[in-house]
Amino acid sequence: MTKSIIFISGNGSNLKNIINKINSGFINMEIVAVVSNNSMAKGLEIARTNNIDTIVIDTEKPYLAIIKDLVKKHEVSLLILAGYMKILPEYITDEFRGKILNIHPSLLPKHKGLNTHKKVLESNDSSHGASVHFVNSELDGGAVIIQGQVNVKRDDTEETLKEKVHKIEYEIYPIAIKWFIEKHIELKNDKCLFDGEVLECPIEHIL
Ligand code: GRF
Repeated sequence: MTKSIIFISGNGSNLKNIINKINSGFINMEIVAVVSNNSMAKGLEIARTNNIDTIVIDTEKPYLAIIKDLVKKHEVSLLILAGYMKILPEYITDEFRGKILNIHPSLLPKHKGLNTHKKVLESNDSSHGASVHFVNSELDGGAVIIQGQVNVKRDDTEETLKEKVHKIEYEIYPIAIKWFIEKHIELKNDKCLFDGEVLECPIEHIL
């Protein structure tokens, strides 16, 4: 069975959703540890409740050895970023190239970085959404695998957008993880291949 590590910094609702999808049998994967840079992250409680080991790291210090040891010890083949609010150092993205996934709350390449809901409102975008992508050393810049869209209405606020985007995230992240586990997707020359063919644009998930 595929073994994974999940990285979080906050609430961990995507973590919870992934655990649910494992429990329902949709994803055939074990989470061997949840890693957080934030000892107060609510998601750590979710991990503990589900008997998953938790590790708090100090990102001011190099942490490649910690992750490498975990990966080796448990034969981990997938690192999943789920609301991990730190930029992964290049020594991690290089070491695990093609094995790290992230979910970002925007329709990449639009609105990289923080505060995406605010940026969408300020830009008067009519659509918004979430993207799952492979992680490379460029912030939110790796090959995008799947995206889901939501309409932006005139009365939307950052809060309502966050809620709508989370709903999409709970659908697309498990799908991308499943594709990775079942070897449908892989990263080659910084492009995402799906069943061996280059994805020219991300797969669009329709609700
Ligand atoms: C999500 O919106 C995700 O796209 C972003 O951080 C948020 C994490 O939410 N990277 P949660 O901690 O999973 O609730």
